[in-house]
Amino acid sequence: MHLCPVRRSAERQRRTLLGTEVFASTPDFADHVNNFASAAVDLVKVYGSGATAVRALDGVTVGFRPAAFSAIMGPSGSGKSTLMHCLAGLDTATSGAALLGGKDLTRLPDNALTKVRRDRIGFVFQAFNLLPALTARQNVLLPLALAGRHVDKAWFAQLVEALGLSSRLSHRPSEMSGGQQQRVALARALVTRPEVVFADEPTGNLDSRSSADVLKLLRQAVREFGQTIVMVTHDDRAASYADAVVHMVDGRVVQAVAA
Ligand SMILES: Nc1ncnc2c1ncn2[C@@H]1O[C@H](COP(=O)(O)OP(=O)(O)OP(=O)(O)O)[C@@H](O)[C@H]1O
Ligand SMILES: [Mg+2]
Repeated sequence: MHLCPVRRSAERQRRTLLGTEVFASTPDFADHVNNFASAAVDLVKVYGSGATAVRALDGVTVGFRPAAFSAIMGPSGSGKSTLMHCLAGLDTATSGAALLGGKDLTRLPDNALTKVRRDRIGFVFQAFNLLPALTARQNVLLPLALAGRHVDKAWFAQLVEALGLSSRLSHRPSEMSGGQQQRVALARALVTRPEVVFADEPTGNLDSRSSADVLKLLRQAVREFGQTIVMVTHDDRAASYADAVVHMVDGRVVQAVAA
């Protein structure tokens, strides 16, 4: 496997400007860690133990730029979701560091980690994960309600408008299409203005039209609001909306390409 070493070349600067970088070694990376919104340093995740142990992440060192749209691709089982869950503090790593804004989440006690997830990270899942008893408006505002934070009404209105949800706010998830539900999930992830939005196959359950709508909105959030987005996808077309694409195979990052 060949990873690009850190060097002051035009190619490196291009990568640096556009998105994601892969580093040859952890010491190289250490000097640059603070430049990334989210980063993994020699991250290892082993599920189980003994003969049945699975090494889902096998020493991943990669950084995701702020205000960029990065995609993670790779075959099923290559560790994409595991990497994202560790970076988002949803899962614990076996060793290595998972950094948010240069701070290692793996060293935080549980209560601090809960707060980080609530206040600094947004999630979008393939299965939408909306609460069925709540309306679209209540679902979008839930993270703020849970955090006891006030609603920035102008921001909420802007999101609802941009996501085309104005006429759906009093509907429950069962009364909305898949595309509409995913847009509600997107609004819920963006409403807190998180440092990073992690999206795990957000268009996996959508038809091509709804998919394109969601991807355009993600792109728009990066361009207009400076949002940082890291998205796992199987779909080349979805990845084409990203500034940079990281490829994983067998728990390792094998390539990072600036779009
Ligand atoms: N909770 C778990 N317990 C045991 N093994 C797990 C667990 N979660 C994931 N794995 C294993 O870790 C490896 C990486 O899984 P992961 O879900 O990260 O893959 P992925 O790249 O997201 O795949 P997909 O594209 O199918 O979603 C796989 O071999 C998987 O079987
Ligand atoms: Mg997955």
